[in-house]
Amino acid sequence: MNKFMRNLCLSAAVIGMGAGAVSPAAAQSGTSPELNDNKILNISHRGASGYAPEHTLPSYELGDQMGGDYIELDLQMTKDGELIAMHDETLDRTTDGSGLVKDHTLEEIKQLDAGSWFNEAHPEMANEGFKGLKVQTLEEVIEHFGKNKNYYIETKSPEVYPGMEEELLKILEEYNLIRQNGPSSRVIIQSFSEESLQKVHDLNGDIPLVQLIDYRTQATITDEELDHYHEYAAGIGMSYKKIDEEYVQKVREHDLLIHPYTVNDKEDMKRLLEWGVTGMFTNYPDVLEDALKELKMN
Ligand code: G3P
Ligand code: CA
Repeated sequence: MNKFMRNLCLSAAVIGMGAGAVSPAAAQSGTSPELNDNKILNISHRGASGYAPEHTLPSYELGDQMGGDYIELDLQMTKDGELIAMHDETLDRTTDGSGLVKDHTLEEIKQLDAGSWFNEAHPEMANEGFKGLKVQTLEEVIEHFGKNKNYYIETKSPEVYPGMEEELLKILEEYNLIRQNGPSSRVIIQSFSEESLQKVHDLNGDIPLVQLIDYRTQATITDEELDHYHEYAAGIGMSYKKIDEEYVQKVREHDLLIHPYTVNDKEDMKRLLEWGVTGMFTNYPDVLEDALKELKMN
C-alpha cells in the first residue's frame, strides 16, 4: 500500500471514531519523551496537517498514529474567554465563518465547518468525512486524548488576549498536566512573545518553555542571547530555512533544545538531524519517522 492510500485508510479510521471518545491509542499508558539529547521530538504540527484539516481531531489522531511525540496546538481565545485550537486570529481560512475569533462566542464558532476548506484546498487529500468537523477547545482536545498524551502549546497573539496565559495554566493544572521535579513533561509551551513566556514562567516555573524566533534573514545568534533564553526557556524554535549547522551547534553548546519548523521534506529533515537538532515540527510525522529510521536515530 502506498503512502497516499495508507493515509486515506488512517483518515477513515480516525473519522469513524466519535468526537469525545477516548481513542484506543489514548487509552494506552503513554510515556512522555524526555527533554534531553536521547530523544528527537517528532512534533505533529497542527496535527498531521498535511493529511487532514489542521487542528481537528482527525489531524491530531493521525499525528499520534504516525509517530508524533507531541501534538502541536495553536491557541486563540473566543469573545467569552474560551481557548480554542486555531492558528489564525480570523475564522476565514480554516472555517466557513469570517471575522475575528475574539469577536465570536464559542457557541457561534461551534456552528462552523472546520473541515470542508481542506477538501477544497487539497482535492488530492479530500475526504467526505472531513466535512462538518468542529473547531476544538483546548479542554476538548485534552479530554479526547487524555492525560497520557503530550501537548506542545503555542500562545498565539497573546497581546490580543489578556488573561490567555492564566486561563491556559488553569486548564493544565485542572487536568494535572504539569509535572514537577523531572525532565519529562506532558506539556511544552511555545510562543514568539517573550512577554507571554515570561508570564507563564512567573506563574509556574516547572513548565518547559520554547522561545520561537522569527528571523527575516539568515539566522545568527550571540552567546548573550543564548544565555538570556536559557534563563527562562528549555529551548528555541525558528524556521529551518534560516539556520545552518554552525547555528545548531552553538545552540546545543548552550544546552538549549532546538526545534525548527515546519519541516516537511525528508532530505531537509535528515540534514537537520545530522546537524544536531533535538526535534522538529512537521505536517508529516510519518515522513520524519522514516527519516529517523533511515538514520537509525529512533
Ligand atoms: O510553533 C511552531 C510553528 O508552528 C510556528 O509557526 O505560524 O505555524 O504557528 P506557525
Ligand atoms: Ca505554531
